[in-house]
Amino acid sequence: MISQLGIIGLYEKRKMARILTGIQSSGKPHLGNLLGAILPAIALSKKERNDSYFFIADLHSLTTIKDAELRKENVRSVAAAWIACGFDIEKNTFYRQSKVPEVCELAWILNCFTPFPMLANAHSFKDKSDKLSDVNAGLFVYPVLMAADILLYDADIIPVGKDQKQHLEMTRDLGLTFNRKFGDTFVIPEPQISNQMEIVPGIDGKKMSKSYGNILDIFQPDKKLRKNIMSIKTDSLALKAPKNPTTCNVFKLYELLGSDEEIEVLRKSYLGGNYGYGNAKQELFELILKKFDKERSTYDKLISDPESLENMLCEGEIKASKIAQSVLARVKDKIGF
Ligand code: ADP
Ligand code: TRP
Repeated sequence: MISQLGIIGLYEKRKMARILTGIQSSGKPHLGNLLGAILPAIALSKKERNDSYFFIADLHSLTTIKDAELRKENVRSVAAAWIACGFDIEKNTFYRQSKVPEVCELAWILNCFTPFPMLANAHSFKDKSDKLSDVNAGLFVYPVLMAADILLYDADIIPVGKDQKQHLEMTRDLGLTFNRKFGDTFVIPEPQISNQMEIVPGIDGKKMSKSYGNILDIFQPDKKLRKNIMSIKTDSLALKAPKNPTTCNVFKLYELLGSDEEIEVLRKSYLGGNYGYGNAKQELFELILKKFDKERSTYDKLISDPESLENMLCEGEIKASKIAQSVLARVKDKIGF
């Protein structure tokens, strides 16, 4: 019998929910990734009854990044950011997608059960194929690899941003269709999409995104970080003039990080006049240094010791491989391989 959550008994038997999410290594992690994805997922992983599988989707990033050195550097930055932000890699499982190759075998099997129009009509493929010059087959089957990422680990709950909703629907569809045809095989996952998740604005006021070149990288050295913050776009009101905090990018970013008290003090400075955007940017810079002091120094340590980082990932990959092998064996048995 198949429940909403897939195979009856598995979830209950484990007495804990398996949380799984991936983040592509397509660039440096930025403040939007941190506030919108990394920190909320880490908070979820801290609940005792949750067992979390977080991974770096480096195979997905190959759809757009072909430079091996750049990809490796991004993998290290993303890995260091998760660990620096407090992801407990002993309690949980942390790995690179590419190091558990069973995912490719499962993706191929799922490809053979995926209706062509399902992929042809995917929003993300349409968006990307309109924008990118390299429209490769990897981009087309991207959602099937993502379904394999999830189904391979019997995951129950998948925290993602709104943009991933359709990918999760496809994953559920593929899992349910397979279960109907071959009997209980996959756990059917539930997406966890936070509607109130703030869209963190970039330094130009648009959504912060690697693809818009408008990111705030909080892990940069002090000098570069300060320069990055000083380049946030503002209007050009004179120093003397009172300023509107609600329309200012600097204030919006400060609001996402400051305490109620700190925000109130800054609001008053804006409204009072004789307070320039340069001062506000300096406040934001100091707030980021204070708020992420521990994370920034842990990140620096991890990045300067790639061997330890590699070992941490390898340990996670051993754990991830065990479950991947057993689920893949279950699937192959069902289809007669
Ligand atoms: P990018 O747009 O920089 O390429 P990704 O697509 O790799 O970001 O997103 C990774 C995760 O970070 C997703 O869960 C996404 O919802 C979240 N995220 C990305 N940008 C923002 C933002 N500006 N505000 C809030 N969350 C974001
Ligand atoms: N497609 C996701 C993104 O761009 C990354 C991702 C790959 C993912 N595989 C996943 C997220 C599995 C959740 C579960 O953000």
